Amino acid sequence: MQALTALVEQALAEVGGCTDLGALDEARVRWLGKKGALTEQLKSLGGLPAAERPAAGARINEAKVRLQAAIEARRERLGREEIERSLAAGRIDVTLPGRGETRGGLHPVTKARLRIEALFRRAGFDVATGPEVEDDFHNFEALNFPPNHPARAMHDTFYFPDGKLLRTHTSPVQIRAMLERGAPIAVIAPGRVYRCDSDMTHSPMFHQVEGLKVGEGVSFANLKAILHGFLQAFFERDLAMRLRPSFFPFTEPSAEVDMSCVFCDGKGCRTCKQTGWLEIAGCGMVHPNVLKASGIDAERFSGYAFGAGIDRLAMLRYGVSDLRLFFENDLRFLEQFRTL
Ligand code: DAH
Repeated sequence: MQALTALVEQALAEVGGCTDLGALDEARVRWLGKKGALTEQLKSLGGLPAAERPAAGARINEAKVRLQAAIEARRERLGREEIERSLAAGRIDVTLPGRGETRGGLHPVTKARLRIEALFRRAGFDVATGPEVEDDFHNFEALNFPPNHPARAMHDTFYFPDGKLLRTHTSPVQIRAMLERGAPIAVIAPGRVYRCDSDMTHSPMFHQVEGLKVGEGVSFANLKAILHGFLQAFFERDLAMRLRPSFFPFTEPSAEVDMSCVFCDGKGCRTCKQTGWLEIAGCGMVHPNVLKASGIDAERFSGYAFGAGIDRLAMLRYGVSDLRLFFENDLRFLEQFRTL
């Protein structure tokens, strides 16, 4: 009897000393498990004289029940403590001020586009849009690129299996706008374009703005004036512009537009490769075939068109040297344009 009392005392002390649920379970196995100390006691009853067995058995059972109750109570307490600990550790102070509450800003390419739109609206142009997934007719055929014409190879086109493509320039919006609205018409069409090309100065997705004006008596002189006026307004300074003869299937005659370098004022620097000039757009008089494909009377109407890279305009205006910075979306870079 004394031995049993001592065992129970020891067991209760051990249970009381357990500080986590794992240790408590080990103690339970040690005392009440199949090979536990109290279980062994029950097994040893057989060695007692028959008369003593019932009383001894009852006491051992009583001890077992007591110990089980102590373990249960301890388990409950430890469980509660664990929940309280994790609640305290994960406490959120809802009265703390929030983080990251600085104001956002527009992306520099978006800023440049909005600026271009505002300037051309002031000159009487509407803003037109078209789909980025185009068909061959609008992207090439109606723009006077015959099938297998070598000029198609100038565009590294992304094709879909069904023959559709990602537009390689914004010029197809010219066709859509003329088919929809007829002449006279004056629109610009800014948007994303795609070419299978990627390096320091080329991104597979980039932005262009297309310009188109068709009416009676629209001349090359008008084209030159609108472009020069736009560049001076966009860069907010007096700058020189020149046109160099060039070729595009959809314009005749065609020209490349250069402006005096905004970094060195035409003196020659790294950006302009010491030439003093920056190539900024392509332009020309709308080819009669393009007017005809768009349902416009090429005898009565004439027009001009131009196309420029918005990313390049943004780089030059904001002094950004690497095109890729525009597409990485590094906040440290973008934050610098918040107030510009
Ligand atoms: N679509 C031409 C390109 O992506 C740019 C261009 C050149 C557009 C001359 C025009 C234009 O409207 O007249 O290379």
